[in-house]
Amino acid sequence: MLQITFIDADGTTHALQVEPGQTVMQAAIENDIRGILADCGGSRSCATCHCYVDPAWAERFPPASVEETELVSYAFDPLPTSRLSCQLPLQPEHDGLVIRLPPRQI
Ligand code: FES
Repeated sequence: MLQITFIDADGTTHALQVEPGQTVMQAAIENDIRGILADCGGSRSCATCHCYVDPAWAERFPPASVEETELVSYAFDPLPTSRLSCQLPLQPEHDGLVIRLPPRQI
């Protein structure tokens, strides 16, 4: 198990214990994190799983693909550390990860 923390746009924090091997999006959906919608179910076609990886953790994931970068550009209020949470596989080294959520998805 590893701990990840989601922080809503209003500052509310949700600390979760999750299994490695799933994506950040799957962890959010399974734990009813409302800021992640994931309308396409993780097939990288909706951008409603947009999140901000905390800067301290941003380099610990593989870089975004061209397709992900393009889709993120259509998300609400993208920032330099914006990612699609369905493209972020959780590994044991992500224990302590912090993910911030945008004020809205679309
Ligand atoms: Fe649709 Fe991530 S869930 S792009």
